[in-house]
Formats: sequence, structure tokens, C-alpha cells
Amino acid sequence: MAFVSSDFAQLSQRLQSKPARWLVTGCAGFIGSHLIETLLKLNQTVVGLDNFSTGHPCNLDEVQALVTPGQWLKFQFVKADIRDPDACRQVCLDVDYVLHQAALGSVPRSLADPLATNASNIDGFLNMLVAARDAKVRRFVYAASSSTYGDHPDLPKVEDTIGRPLSPYAVTKLVNELYADVFARCYGFASIGLRYFNVFGARQDPEGAYAAVIPRWTRAMLLGEQVLINGDGETSRDFCFVNNAVQANLLAATTENPGAVNQVYNVALDDRTSLNRLFEMLRAVLAETKPELGSAKPGYGEFRPGDVRHSQADIAKARRLLHYAPTHRLEEGIRIAMPWYVSHFTPSSPCTA
Ligand SMILES: NC(=O)c1ccc[n+]([C@@H]2O[C@H](COP(=O)([O-])OP(=O)(O)OC[C@H]3O[C@@H](n4cnc5c(N)ncnc54)[C@H](O)[C@@H]3O)[C@@H](O)[C@H]2O)c1
Repeated sequence: MAFVSSDFAQLSQRLQSKPARWLVTGCAGFIGSHLIETLLKLNQTVVGLDNFSTGHPCNLDEVQALVTPGQWLKFQFVKADIRDPDACRQVCLDVDYVLHQAALGSVPRSLADPLATNASNIDGFLNMLVAARDAKVRRFVYAASSSTYGDHPDLPKVEDTIGRPLSPYAVTKLVNELYADVFARCYGFASIGLRYFNVFGARQDPEGAYAAVIPRWTRAMLLGEQVLINGDGETSRDFCFVNNAVQANLLAATTENPGAVNQVYNVALDDRTSLNRLFEMLRAVLAETKPELGSAKPGYGEFRPGDVRHSQADIAKARRLLHYAPTHRLEEGIRIAMPWYVSHFTPSSPCTA
């Protein structure tokens, strides 16, 4: 059973009684679309920016269908690119809180095209940081990444102990943290970085070589294809349902604890699931409605370059300073996301193209 974080419930009430103006970059992507959905349901005013490089207009259509017409009127979409400093400046005007999600995700994508990843993730990030600083926003919350732990072997991962980055993507996310830290010290600019660990849920793109593992495997099973596990399947991850990541963003944006600001936080569960176990879980949940999938077997391939072997977050810092309390475990998240996967992952689905 999912439970409710009392701090998050109180915050939700506070926001509803005193709405603010938010900017969500990457709003047509997976996590960004969940942020705008939650904010609009809390009657906030939201500006969303995206260039549709990996996000989809249909994610915005889905959010529109999930909120009331009145709530949707409080949303303004700006199609723009964070590599354009003027666009960043425009969207930051009169904004209280920035939730910066826009970036090119994926380790393999960054290995194939480090220049593109650098341009959106570092140049674009810096454009947003400067624009938000100049607009005097109250807080800049940004998507950092567990990839920053790189080759450091310790488990669970604690925020101040990192290794060497293992991919260009990891470099970009580390540089984000360095810039945010320097902006705090040089300009007194308030930011918080959230190191997401393998976030999953509805509206996560299953298509292409750079898709995340849960939507990719689920789609493969639904289409009757064999799931390919990279390596021996004992690689493990701390899979985090998207509602937990949304909660962390809202708590980070609004915390009034000065000690909590200008920090980075792990956002996950403090749990570790092997890829073999994940496959079994997905297969079991799918088989409840599609019994023919109960006998699906995975194939095994090469280990992927740039991937770390094990990952698990220590979330004590986020619990202590942000009062983050994840509400959904892995299996609960899978059960909630599964109907969306089942209805969208068909060869003719309009929203996964
Ligand atoms: N999903 C995860 O497990 C995970 C883990 C760690 C970090 N992150 C980070 O979280 C953020 C959101 O990830 P996501 O999983 O929702 O990915 P996503 O690809 O679904 O969303 C990213 C969005 O940013 C937009 N975007 C990319 N470059 C842009 C640019 N130059 N200008 C404007 N918009 C641009 C894309 O079109 C997309 O809509 C990213 O910063 C990602 O690096 C995600």
C-alpha cells in the first residue's frame, strides 16, 4: 500500500492556499510532465518549456486530460531551447520556482554524441542558471544524477563521496552541481540538486536505443519480443517511482530550512533490485492480465560500456533536511504504471512514436 508523506501533504495544502508561479523545463518529457500535472492539480500557475527533442506533445495532451479545464488555463507552454539564452531569460520572468529538468538523458547517447549532450546539459544549464539568477527566482531546483557517483565502489551512495565519471553524460551532471555550487558562493543564488536514481513511471519513452529499462522491457514483452539483459542480470539499481521524484522537487523548491539549500540530495528508495529480479517482477505483473507472458524468458548480451555495476542511494540526507519520505516502493510503482504501459505500448500507439 502506498502511504502519504505528511510533510508533502501539508506542503500541498500550503501551496493550494497560496499559489505560486513555477517554471518547469523539459515539461514535455517524462519527469517534467509529472511535475506539471502535480503542480496544476495543486492550482499553481505553471510555465513549461521544451524543444521536443526527446519529449512529446502528446505528454502535454495527456496532462491536459488529467487536470480540470480551469487548471489547464493556468499552464503556458513555450516551445524553446535552453541552448538559447534569450529564451531562458524570457521564461524566467516573474517566476517563483524553477524546476529544471531539460537535458539529454542517457549514458549511451552521450557516448555516441558527447557534443550534443554537452550543449544541452552544460551550455543549456548555464543559460538557465544565469537567467534564473537575473530574474531573482526564489529557488532553482535541478535534475542531477546518480551517474555522478561514477566508479566509486561504496554502497549505499552518500552525497559527498563520489568517484570519477564514467561517461560524458555523468560529466555534464557533475558540472551542473559545480556551477550551482559556484553560483551559491559567488552570487548568493539559491539552488538544490536532486540526484535521481532510475526514475520510472507512465509517460517514460520506451522507444529507441536510449530508452530506460522498465519501459523498454515492458514494451518488448507486450510486443512479444525477447527482453535483452545487458550483462549477467546481476547488475542492480535503486529504481524510483516518479511520484517520489515529484515529491522531492516540491519539497526542495519550498523548504525554508537554510541548511537545506545549496545542497545536492539522492532521490530514490535506498533499495537495490537486480535486473534479473526486475525482469521477474515485470513479467509477474504483466502475467496477471496476460497469462501468455508468464513464460517469457530474457536473453543476455554484453555489459554496456559506461554502466556502473551496482547502485543504491542513501536517502538519509533528503529525509533529514527536506523531510523527503518516498511513498511508493518499486512493485507498487510498477503496478500503478502498468495500465499506462499496456494501453500505450502497442505498434500503433500515437503517444510512443
Ligand atoms: N529518468 C531518470 O531515471 C533520470 C535519472 C537521472 C537524471 N535524470 C534527469 O532528469 C531530467 C528529466 O529526465 P527524463 O527522464 O524526464 O527525460 P526526458 O527525455 O523524458 O525529458 C527531458 C526533456 O527535456 C527536453 N529537452 C532536452 N534538451 C532540451 C533543450 N536543449 N531545450 C529544451 N528542452 C530540452 C526534452 O525534449 C524532454 O522533453 C533530465 O535532466 C535527466 O538527465 C533522469
